[in-house]
Parts: sequence; structure tokens; C-alpha cells
Amino acid sequence: AAAEKDGFDWFMLKEIAEQPKAVADTLLGRLSDTGALVLDELRLTEQELRDIDKVFVVACGTAYHAGLIAKYAIEHWTRIPVEVELASEFRYRDPVLDRSTLVVVVSQSGETMDTLMALRHAREQKAKVLAICNANGSTIPRESDAVLYTHAGPEVAVASTKGFLTQVVACYLVGAFLAQVRGVKYADEVAAIVDELRALPEKVTEVLATMEPVRELARSLATEDTLLFLGRHVGYPVALEGALKLKELAYIHAEGFAAGELKHGSIALIDQGTPVVVIVPSPLSRESVHGKVVSNIQEVRARGARTIVIAEEGDEDVVPFADHLIRVPRTPTLLAPVVTTVPLQVLACEIAATRGLDVDQPRNLAKSVTVE
Ligand code: G6P
Repeated sequence: AAAEKDGFDWFMLKEIAEQPKAVADTLLGRLSDTGALVLDELRLTEQELRDIDKVFVVACGTAYHAGLIAKYAIEHWTRIPVEVELASEFRYRDPVLDRSTLVVVVSQSGETMDTLMALRHAREQKAKVLAICNANGSTIPRESDAVLYTHAGPEVAVASTKGFLTQVVACYLVGAFLAQVRGVKYADEVAAIVDELRALPEKVTEVLATMEPVRELARSLATEDTLLFLGRHVGYPVALEGALKLKELAYIHAEGFAAGELKHGSIALIDQGTPVVVIVPSPLSRESVHGKVVSNIQEVRARGARTIVIAEEGDEDVVPFADHLIRVPRTPTLLAPVVTTVPLQVLACEIAATRGLDVDQPRNLAKSVTVE
């Protein structure tokens, strides 16, 4: 078993380390030299893709967080409305679906029963179903109209890491491809995004090379009983994912919040010493939410929080308010989750290991849940 882990203590650590290659494999053969996307494998005709007037992204657990990120990218690049929904809620609420609806189901295993039932429901309503999946030939892609495999390789640890990162990248491919086929307003931006996608594996490698201080920080957090995660824009789903990882692995109460919602309730939770992880958007982000998130760090710190700040290299505004600063490489706003998620994976993994827990097989969880 030690050999299977390539010398790592846990499969999860091995899979975290494999992420640059996994992301590269998701992109492999799908980006042309001319800046176009090549997704012939989609099996949906260009006409079908042009007729789409609504997208649903449906998934469970970590894959649902990838879907939340997809919404920001797909809506921005294509101007098609996107809804993201938990598979276990989707069909029971009688969603409005027809021939021109694209339902993107996201599942690492391709066997999650809730997601499978949602996909069957969508197809009964004549929607087109595209699966983003890792496990080749599994049930979900077999029953879908089209499939985009993530090619992350087998994921053994129950908590998804490379599975998640590659789902996010596959969602970008779908969004950029829809934009390309439909020739929309942001076409130039899509060509630029293709270049930025190519740069992602190297950026993940850079993040991984700087994780030792994060491990040290994790060891100092191992006795905490609650951690809060704040993010805004695509940093919000990253906050949710960071909190989920910590719950799954370390059995510590954790919650992710939209940073803008802080003042509407959750700020009441901040007490002396409460650890708060903040995912800061790029200072260059067009949405100009950077300054607002910096204010949020100040606000929680003024109320006693111990701030753990994830910010881009060169972002000096955060320095005075960060008790701990984790740097990530400069990345376009929409793609930032591919780098900002990685320290949160390492943090959760190391906290769990410090607590003496089984990182790969957390209690009460299964890798793939095949019951509804
Ligand atoms: C299980 C796993 C989660 C995973 C979820 C969805 O609950 O423990 O880690 O995110 O299923 O899995 P899927 O294979 O559909 O992505």
C-alpha cells in the first residue's frame, strides 16, 4: 500500500501533489495552437449548442462547488443564464426544462445516485445532458447525451482534491466552448482564457512548492473547534469547499460564507481568536470586489478574529490585516479557484493528520454514494 501512495503518507497527499498533471490532462488535446477549443467529443451539434437558452449545473458535495464556480464563468462568457443545484433537490422541485436546456451533471465517480436520478429526470424532460466525469465508462456518462472526461486518474481518498480541480477546469472548457460556438461578445476574452488555461498546471505547481508554512499553520489550528471561511465572487464557492474539506477530514465545525453577507449575520460568530480564512480576489479583478474583501478582513480582525488570508502575489493591501498570509500566483479572476483551493486542501489534510485521524477514510463517509 505504501508503494501505491508513491511514498506519501496518504492517498490524499499524493492526489494533491498530482494536481498539476491532472489539470494538464484535463486540458490535453482540447486547446488548439490558434487559441480555439477543440471539443469534438461533445457529441452535441453546433446547432444544438447554439439553441441552448438555459443551463443547469447539477451535482453533489464537492462537485456541487465546482458547479457554483461554473456559473460565474459560463454566465460571464456566454450570457446564458445558469442555475446550480444540488442533485438531491433538483428533480423534486419540478425544475423547468425543455429541449433548449443544457443540464451539466458533474460527478467524479459517475455513480452518485442523486446525480444519476437528476440526469434521468432531465432527459425525460427532453433536456440535453452533458456529463463532466472522471471515471471512464461509469453510469452517469453512459446515460448522458455527451461527456467531457476530466482524465484526473483514479482518486482513492474519500475527500476529492484532483477530482474537484479538474471538474472546475472542465467547467471552464464547457463555458469557453459555448462562447466560441455561439460567437458572443466576450470572444476575445475567450481566446485569452485559452492561454490562461494553459498556464494553470504551472501555477498549481508553484502553489504546491510553498505549502510548508501552511502545514505549520495547520498544526497550530488542530485544537480549534470552529473555523470560518469567507470569500466573494468565485472565492465564495472556494470558501464553501474549504469548509467542507475541514468538516469531512478533521470533524471540525466549519462554515463558508459570502464575505458580503458577513454584516447580515455571521459576523456575530466572531469571537476572540476565532480563526477566519479569507480568500481574497485579485486586486486586478474587474468586479472591483478586492477592496470590499480587504475591508471584511479588517472588520473581523477588529472583532478579535485570527485572520488567515489567501491573496495574490503582490497584493500589499492585505498585509496589515493578515495574521497569516498565504500567497498564490497571479491568475485571472474567474480561474483563481484552481490556485486558491489548493492551500485549503493542504490545510484540512494537515489538521486532520495532526488530530490523528484517518485522512483517506473519514468516518461516516463513502467515496461514492450509490443510494438516494
Ligand atoms: C460523496 C463523496 C464526496 C463527493 C460526493 C459527490 O459524498 O464523499 O467527496 O463530493 O460524493 O461525488 P461524485 O462522485 O458524484 O463527484
